[in-house]
Amino acid sequence: MTQSHPRISKAVIPAAGLGTRFLPATKATPKEMLPVVDKPAIQYVVEEAVSAGLDDVLMVTGRNKRPLEDHFDRNYELESALEKKGDEERLARVRQSSDLATMHYVRQGDPKGLGHAVLCAAPHVGREPFAVLLGDDLIDPRDPLLARMIETQERHGGSVIALMEVAPEQIHLYGCAAVEATGEDGVVRVTGLVEKPDAADAPSNYAIIGRYVLDPHVFDILRTTEPGRGGEIQLTDALQQLADDEKVGGPVHGVVFQGRRYDTGDRGDYLRAIVRLACEREDLGPDFRAWLRSYVAEEMQQS
Ligand code: UTP
Repeated sequence: MTQSHPRISKAVIPAAGLGTRFLPATKATPKEMLPVVDKPAIQYVVEEAVSAGLDDVLMVTGRNKRPLEDHFDRNYELESALEKKGDEERLARVRQSSDLATMHYVRQGDPKGLGHAVLCAAPHVGREPFAVLLGDDLIDPRDPLLARMIETQERHGGSVIALMEVAPEQIHLYGCAAVEATGEDGVVRVTGLVEKPDAADAPSNYAIIGRYVLDPHVFDILRTTEPGRGGEIQLTDALQQLADDEKVGGPVHGVVFQGRRYDTGDRGDYLRAIVRLACEREDLGPDFRAWLRSYVAEEMQQS
């Protein structure tokens, strides 16, 4: 299929969830603002969108999410204090987040589910294909995924989701895709989707992870999608309809991701993200790795 629509330029970042897995830290602070080393998780996500060429970013926020808007805005007081001190390095770090992209915000009054959060983006997105990046899902910047998905969507049309193979005992934590081969390396055709299945009912061990490139027909479907699993309006249910009908927003392809990814809304994964990214930092890594080695050695002696 040839390219039949404008180049994708808009990213939607749903960040209105309650973050209950991270309570009490998320009682008054959005989970997307939790620091991963020294940057909030959400900044990595916006940086990823920008490096895939998407410089129009709409964040779907909700109650308690004000710090998200403040983080991507100027902070004149802080900037002038750093300017007076001549602290150019920190000044650059403070300005980095406000200079990244053109940011827009929409409030999801009630967190009725990911599908509903995506629907809140409809007036801003219009009738163009667009990308969705979950605000708590961190893809290592060295393992680009979104650019591959956009390129796949431009070749095939329809919608594209990101898939990752997981162990069968993990599949109940994810949406799961039934797939067939396309003959293209790392690209599959999605024939069915099911949200958080038991291992015995899972059609594959391909888990859906938090990156999507969607045809705007998904909005028409979401408007009539009834609440599904957990009483929430599920994006997976709308994707199933896209996969069913090639003429209405389909086909749905899956790009298989084999790189590093962290669910920063999960406490264990959050800790792993910090340790890994801190180890790899030029400024902090050498000292931190040395400490980690001796800590692990001590632990091994005790066990
Ligand atoms: P999660 O499934 O991680 O839900 O949402 P959650 O409520 O944020 O977290 P827990 O499970 O209670 O700890 C996946 C993504 O969808 C967004 C979340 O912000 C997250 O980026 N989301 C979810 C919304 O924007 N609105 C919703 O109504 C639900």
